[in-house]
Amino acid sequence: MTHHRKYFHIPWQFAKLSVFLYASIFFLVICLCLIANTCNFLAILPKIKNQENTGLNLMEGFAVTAKQFHKSDKANEIIFQKSNISSFQKFIRNRKEKKQSGTVTQFANEETTESASNSSIYPHPFQFLINEKDKCKQKTPFLVLLIPTRADEKKHREAIRKTWGNESVVPGIKIVRLFMLGFSDKDQNENILQESRQYHDIIQQDFLDTYNNLTLKTMMGIKWIATYCNGTSFIMKTDSDVFVNTIYLIQELLRPIISPSQYFFTGCLMKNHEPIRNPDSKWYMPKELYPGDRYPDFCSGTGYVFSRAVVPKIVSASLKVKYVHLEDIFVALCLERQGITISPPLRNSFFNIYKVPFSTCVYNNIITSHGINPTEQIIFWETLQKEKHMCHK
Ligand SMILES: *[C@@H]1O[C@H](CO)[C@@H](O)[C@H](O)[C@H]1NC(C)=O
Ligand SMILES: *[C@@H]1O[C@H](CO)[C@@H](O)[C@H](O)[C@H]1NC(C)=O
Ligand SMILES: *[C@@H]1O[C@H](CO)[C@@H](O)[C@H](O)[C@H]1NC(C)=O
Ligand SMILES: *[C@@H]1O[C@H](CO)[C@@H](O)[C@H](O)[C@H]1NC(C)=O
Ligand SMILES: *[C@@H]1O[C@H](CO)[C@@H](O)[C@H](O)[C@H]1NC(C)=O
Repeated sequence: MTHHRKYFHIPWQFAKLSVFLYASIFFLVICLCLIANTCNFLAILPKIKNQENTGLNLMEGFAVTAKQFHKSDKANEIIFQKSNISSFQKFIRNRKEKKQSGTVTQFANEETTESASNSSIYPHPFQFLINEKDKCKQKTPFLVLLIPTRADEKKHREAIRKTWGNESVVPGIKIVRLFMLGFSDKDQNENILQESRQYHDIIQQDFLDTYNNLTLKTMMGIKWIATYCNGTSFIMKTDSDVFVNTIYLIQELLRPIISPSQYFFTGCLMKNHEPIRNPDSKWYMPKELYPGDRYPDFCSGTGYVFSRAVVPKIVSASLKVKYVHLEDIFVALCLERQGITISPPLRNSFFNIYKVPFSTCVYNNIITSHGINPTEQIIFWETLQKEKHMCHK
């Protein structure tokens, strides 16, 4: 019996102890729940996670602000880990406020970029000093040549008129040649006016004629096409130190294209080029003007050709794209905005941004060669016309 009692005595005491322990633990848990508000805490946790996600989604695209957010999140996380409930609630409140101010930042951001691009879009209040409104009236041209020159480059113009810029170089095909000028000084302008009266191949606006205003010159030409010559099939923009085999251009490249009302833009295709950040370079591009690491694909300004369909597209985009002084980049930014892709030339040898050593049969199968002086223009052209029948096709 003693054994029995002994046997039952210990478990009974043990049971009492267990009941006490269980009760205490239960009581403690309830206390913790109520006092520390832990239950509430746990219930909020998933909600917070959600809010965090939406918060970050909202901030996407605003890298700087998003980074700042990230920093303050870290600080808040430390408090969070210490389970300081009041801090935690504060964190939630902060998060909500920040989300709202985040939206405000977003708006402010949009406004600043809008006004920044507003103030830096292509400025175009320029007036024509010399115009040729009727150039395309008698007969619609097949090709318009737009050639930027300075007032003091009379020799270049003379050479081009006699050679590749001769408007009747291909029988039966109408070409219009236009030299594009800005304003430099009064004395020189007298000569320009006289030259214009003689040849009727000059258009000029009243912006200062400088290298860094080349975009203004190109846009003057493209807008001129849109206003006075919208029926032309093709347009070529080239430079006064470029040799252009206009005959080859028309016969090999442009004639086979059936419809100039399709988007077509070609030239020496430059892919993946980085902006030059060296201030001494001719092609210097300040980061403030173009922050990107790469330019879009563009065609070297030494010679690009496009169909008339592209003209109104460039004109309308030019009012929205950020203004850059490098004209070929500016035109490429306009094309990019309009989703027009540049066609690579049929052969890489067509457009050359360097000087191709002269040989009749080489020049017979290229479109551009760059770095050619007025004397060379004449020699190369005359030699080519005299000897080209000896070359194989
Ligand atoms: C808890 O939050 C209060 C109020 O924000 C603060 O004063 C206190 O320092 C915090 N304690 C800890 C351990 O974070
Ligand atoms: C921005 O452009 C709008 C028209 O697009 C014009 O009304 C406004 O004056 C311009 N603001 C600035 C600062 O140039
Ligand atoms: C242009 O070419 C035509 C036809 O070859 C020629 O008759 C005319 O003299 C040329 N014009 C100039 C200015 O060289
Ligand atoms: C471009 O032309 C405008 C208008 O004549 C002039 O104010 C500006 O200084 C020129 N810009 C450059 C970079 O030469
Ligand atoms: C081209 O210009 C003429 C008159 O100058 C106009 O009637 C016509 O609508 C224009 N065409 C296009 C496609 O803009």
